[in-house]
Amino acid sequence: MEKITLDKGAPEGLSRVDGRMKVTGRAKYSAEYKVAGVTYGVLAGSTITSGSIKTIDTKKAENAPGVLAVITYLNAPKIPGYQTETPAAKGALKIFYDDKIFFNGQPVALVIADTFERALFAASLVKVTYNATTFQTNLKSNLSTGVSPHNGPDYLRGSGDAYKNAPVKVEQEYLIPTEVHNPMELHAIIASWDADDKVSVYDKTQGIKSTQRSIAQAFKLPQENVHVMSPFVGGAFGAALRTWPHEIAAVLAAKVVKKPVKLVLSRADMFTSVGYRPHTWQKIGLGATADGKLTGITHEASGQTSVYEDFTEGVVNISQLMYACPNVNTKYRLVSLNVNTPTPMRGPGEATGAFALESAMDELSYALNIDPIELRMRNYAETDPQTGKPYSSKFLNDAYKIGADAIGWSKRNAKPGTVKENGWLAGYGMAAGMFGAYRGSATVVARLLADGTLHIETAVTDIGPGTGTAMTTIASEVMGISSDKVNFKLGDSTMPPSPTQGGSSVTATVGSAVSDACTQLKEKLKELNGNSESASAGYAQILQQHNLPQLEVTVTSKGGPELGKYAMYSWSVHFMKVLVHPVTGVVKIQQGLSVADAGHIVSPKTARSQMIGGSIMGAGMALMEEAVIDHRYGRLMNNNFADYHVPVQADIPQIEALFVNKPDPYLNPMGAKGMGEIATIGVAAALANAVYNATGKRVRDLPITPDKLV
Ligand code: MOS
Repeated sequence: MEKITLDKGAPEGLSRVDGRMKVTGRAKYSAEYKVAGVTYGVLAGSTITSGSIKTIDTKKAENAPGVLAVITYLNAPKIPGYQTETPAAKGALKIFYDDKIFFNGQPVALVIADTFERALFAASLVKVTYNATTFQTNLKSNLSTGVSPHNGPDYLRGSGDAYKNAPVKVEQEYLIPTEVHNPMELHAIIASWDADDKVSVYDKTQGIKSTQRSIAQAFKLPQENVHVMSPFVGGAFGAALRTWPHEIAAVLAAKVVKKPVKLVLSRADMFTSVGYRPHTWQKIGLGATADGKLTGITHEASGQTSVYEDFTEGVVNISQLMYACPNVNTKYRLVSLNVNTPTPMRGPGEATGAFALESAMDELSYALNIDPIELRMRNYAETDPQTGKPYSSKFLNDAYKIGADAIGWSKRNAKPGTVKENGWLAGYGMAAGMFGAYRGSATVVARLLADGTLHIETAVTDIGPGTGTAMTTIASEVMGISSDKVNFKLGDSTMPPSPTQGGSSVTATVGSAVSDACTQLKEKLKELNGNSESASAGYAQILQQHNLPQLEVTVTSKGGPELGKYAMYSWSVHFMKVLVHPVTGVVKIQQGLSVADAGHIVSPKTARSQMIGGSIMGAGMALMEEAVIDHRYGRLMNNNFADYHVPVQADIPQIEALFVNKPDPYLNPMGAKGMGEIATIGVAAALANAVYNATGKRVRDLPITPDKLV
């Protein structure tokens, strides 16, 4: 491997092990595999928002050139896994199951043809008539219909609504719109049946084993008869955490036409088929003493879900956890609407909750005339406020200091709307984030070959953070061998089981298994070497002396009982400096900085990229992203990249990431904590707070578009 010269200021550490494959196009994504005899599937969606199908005329589509089949609920073979469930129970959408329509765009037909273009054309020929019924798609006008998930109790610590009696208080409502993951890579699957009871899929997924289980369950197959391959994923952010109806449809279609079927969602499908961050209303009440001690936090939230399935997330949890406050009460409600089901999106729950809580904390800082960082320090939780447990590690106070210093926080003028730079209003804002630090179970196989190379495999995916790079770094450090001698493979269900890539837990979970496997290999080498340690340069020699072609261990690793003794969280603080044009209301990010307490940083280069990426995602949430429904029709108006805006290069001039980089002593052998979620959690509030500091205008409904500032 050739030497990479680091840019000035870029951190040391291994460059992305698959970077060259990705930028040269040799890394293949699910839709790019050449499969002999492949056919193409295109979905047709419902044009009504609620009701049922009256008639479906597929004749024209079936007779169109190249068409092999048109699948609808009328002719679809029964999916065995669908039949065993209680028919009336809420749950995942069952595709081609019956005539019911729950949302606009719900798939009603799948056309399979010999080319993509022919399938696309034939899909336009499917004629459906409907019995339309009334529907609700508007969260704001349906807030009163919200119900507590599973009829669960509301959270209460100390006394409820204590903020109301405080000397200084803030009481405000906040709104986030529906936000769609929209990774660059469209969701795609190629399904081929190898035998009557055996199927292989190239599939975009965050969970190799969970996809294997879902498909096996749907088609009642032994799990090992489902082969899932997903070696490269072009971004996901939560959208590929579960198996969606289009994946089941492709597997079904391959059975029907007895040929491999490739199904790639269109960009428009991405808005209605693979979830989103739900439109959510929130209300925060904060009460404090005149010297800035919080005496009460009340946090209410109502998020939308579909009529057929409940999706819940921890929107209000952050208010129970973030600050030392004796009186906290929270309430969370679900509003069922005629929309598709939401799904976790980076920082699920907390990113939404932090926008409200951290905006309200900023409002309180102005009401008290106390610096926002100082206010947070005065309410710093030294132990977990929810359980009283000690933290496994918490260096958020360091992160505040590092960030304030690096961004030049002392230059911030506490009086809003007073600083101008070249005719633009300038302002600084900050906000904090937190997310649980988790460790699950993973199994890896590690083989040391007689040529001194180390090969490690496990059935995890990499949706972008650089899992292969981090695992290679861990293996090379534990074994004391150079990283180019390490070959880490992932993305195939025939490999030992690993968790789904989600919840910021893969480095902690899979990294521990890699670390444990390497430690075991070293012990075996030591035994072979007459119980004396060998320098890494001598590994190959030991194998050769014993005539061993390889040394192999399979190791399952999970956390021990110590995990229950501590409260484990990653922490972040985000700083933003913005310029706002006083006439047009255009917001420009001039400088962004995120500082994370994510334990020991295993892979500095990819960690930095991940933090910056999360900040950019938060900038999209704050300033641009909003999926808009025309409530007259219940249909999305901007299900494309022309109308649904995401940040582009020109929107993101300079964002930097710094790390406290102190190991967590309990979570795992590396001392690492998760980072994927805290990279985004808090960013939207930091931007809203910066906009307020610049303009004196507080925007509480995202996105902060220019019309809200003029
Ligand atoms: Mo993430 S929302 O755990 O993919």
